[in-house]
Amino acid sequence: MSVLIAPSILSADFAQLGAEVKAIDEAGCDWIHIDVMDGHFVPNLTFGPPVIKAIRPWTKKTFDVHLMIDPAQPYLEDYAKAGADLITVHAEADKHLDRSLQFIKSLGKKAGVSLNPHTPEGIIEYVLDRLDMVLVMSVNPGFGGQSFIESQLEKIARIKRMIGSRPIDIQVDGGVTADNAWKVMAAGATCLVAGSAVFKTKDYAANIAAIRNSKG
Ligand code: DX5
Ligand code: ZN
Repeated sequence: MSVLIAPSILSADFAQLGAEVKAIDEAGCDWIHIDVMDGHFVPNLTFGPPVIKAIRPWTKKTFDVHLMIDPAQPYLEDYAKAGADLITVHAEADKHLDRSLQFIKSLGKKAGVSLNPHTPEGIIEYVLDRLDMVLVMSVNPGFGGQSFIESQLEKIARIKRMIGSRPIDIQVDGGVTADNAWKVMAAGATCLVAGSAVFKTKDYAANIAAIRNSKG
């Protein structure tokens, strides 16, 4: 199956966010990646549920909501109601990860867990059967436009082995470009997030295609 491309709207023009979401939809993206930051778990602030609700009518594609907030649990229902289809929480920001994952599923949404670059993959071993996705952070979260951390390639490969035949996506987020996407896919990624590499020029279709067709 071909890789899923999820442009991060962190790099979009916030003054016209609805139109930007429509533009990446029409440019052939698979999911819309929405980076939620709280100024506490990460040193930046972004979108609350009202913003997600406002852009929901602009596309039918999957809203992939990456919560970089601590705690996430009190806000899960708000993000689900705002229009998230898949909700990802950070393992480092959750003392009760298993409970949060069960709650996301009870809301009828897909559930993901994200790991910061320093976090070993073993932390997800006992929640694997509750997961729809594992998100490997290939930069330290908080900002777009950072460089890919090469050590995460080994982590992606290890997670692929842990997952085995389970239907769990491996998403990779941070510093993904048309130049390095091929090795991220080769390691086992099934979904690539890209912010600056998609929004760097107005030809979003060409930028998405370049990542999708990346070759070493
Ligand atoms: C970082 C975010 C990423 C980021 C990716 O905290 O989770 O989604 O926006 O941006 P690029 O592709 O520019 O590294
Ligand atoms: Zn993200």
